[in-house]
Amino acid sequence: MSVKPIGIFDSGVGGTSIWREINQLLPHENTIYLADSKHAPYGPKGKQQIEELCIKNTELLLEKGCKLIVVACNTATTNAINYLRNNYDVPFIGIEPAIKPAALQTKTNAVGILATKGTLSSSLFHKTSNLHASGVEVIEQVGEGIVQLVENGETYSEEMRALLQLYLKPMLDANIDHLVLGCTHYPYLIPILLELLPNNVKIIDSGEAVARQTKTILKQQKLLNNKQSNPKFQFFTNRNTEVLKQLLGEGFEASYLDF
Ligand code: DGL
Repeated sequence: MSVKPIGIFDSGVGGTSIWREINQLLPHENTIYLADSKHAPYGPKGKQQIEELCIKNTELLLEKGCKLIVVACNTATTNAINYLRNNYDVPFIGIEPAIKPAALQTKTNAVGILATKGTLSSSLFHKTSNLHASGVEVIEQVGEGIVQLVENGETYSEEMRALLQLYLKPMLDANIDHLVLGCTHYPYLIPILLELLPNNVKIIDSGEAVARQTKTILKQQKLLNNKQSNPKFQFFTNRNTEVLKQLLGEGFEASYLDF
């Protein structure tokens, strides 16, 4: 058992969707969340720059004594997790688009994936897609501009609706029956997506799987904290504390930290 915190980082506020899944499955764990909103979006950046930002976030979480780090960002995972695993001793849990379950379950043989440019162009994503979805038509779409809107607190606006309509069109034309959310900011769009998608299209994201994997690794390494009755949840952002608080909902505090 270890009372040390789980560290979680994302390019911004989106990874709180993963924090929520982790907190639900592991309610006794102390957590520290870093929203690197000052440097969002990571999606259009090159691999090396993404790696550098991930190193900065990792070192801050390690300074704060984290026992395990969740890279709650598809773009950061697909571009930097190998580097992080090779260079730091703590376990890292990453998140990748859930293309495998979508490919296994599709009946129309067409699935859509909405993700950042950084994720869709990464070699890790190509590897996963070729391995698990080779016989399926995969309609890839870069969600240009979506992360910025979420970072500004706009999860349900006309601008967001118009962007999503544009991005979903080629997927719906191809008769997809699964939409994979390949970015941790996107679960916040589910209310609009449900209005825009026909009933037969299932939305898939990887948040729950990440929480389950976090639990498995903590157990394996004898680091699980399943007893603490008043865990501490810390949320830090290097930009706007209000948006972070808005997404977390009532009862949570967020602090500004320059990193
Ligand atoms: N939440 C990040 C992801 O899952 C957003 C990436 C970005 O900042 O562009 O990919």
